[in-house]
Amino acid sequence: MSLESALQSLKRGEFVLLFDSAGRENEIDMVVAAEFVTPEHVARMRQYAGGLLCIAIDNNFAKSLELKYMHEILADSSISNKEMIMGLAPYGDHPTFSLSVNHYQTYTGITDKDRSLTIREMANIFNVENKQKKFASSFKTPGHVPLLIASKGLLAARQGHTEMSVYLAQVAGLTPVTAICEMMDAETYSALSVDKAEKFAKQNGIPLIDGKELLEYAKVH
Ligand code: 5RP
Ligand code: CA
Ligand code: ZN
Repeated sequence: MSLESALQSLKRGEFVLLFDSAGRENEIDMVVAAEFVTPEHVARMRQYAGGLLCIAIDNNFAKSLELKYMHEILADSSISNKEMIMGLAPYGDHPTFSLSVNHYQTYTGITDKDRSLTIREMANIFNVENKQKKFASSFKTPGHVPLLIASKGLLAARQGHTEMSVYLAQVAGLTPVTAICEMMDAETYSALSVDKAEKFAKQNGIPLIDGKELLEYAKVH
């Protein structure tokens, strides 16, 4: 599947599957541009991915919202259990988790309708002039959708699904805010294998992007 057809899918508000690499998480995330997310997208990610549904955002956007990484927030706090703070994951990257949020118009925050509203409204903030003020008045934390902050320097700095999905949105000319969810396997109780993901992609007409190809593309663009 060419990268071009994957970008076209994203622009149409459709899913793409994104594999990082065998030497990293070795996982495939379902990815969709946040600006298009509907309750149906959330339902499909629950059913066919089943991992943690998160919102990945561009680093500059996070700065404009005065957001920090959760490990920084906790390190700066007065909690006594600082040894619990995750520095690096077993595969060597720092976590990209920041706050978790609910849009203020949600009820429990977890339903397909509620999470899709939270995800879409995060993307909409990108086009607002006073982003920080609008963010603080429109969202509550803790909530049911974790925010992930892409690294400054994007793919040159970190090659996670956070950065790769935000990069894809940028290249597609979309708001650099994505909804991502790891694909799990209910038969093996592990992450879905690349073989099974390829089969799923073919059956459902969803492009599968190999992180290696994306990194090659980024090098020359
Ligand atoms: C949040 C995660 C996922 O792995 C997600 O893909 C983002 O993380 P990363 O950028 O490290 O791949 O842990 O559910
Ligand atoms: Ca992970
Ligand atoms: Zn990941």
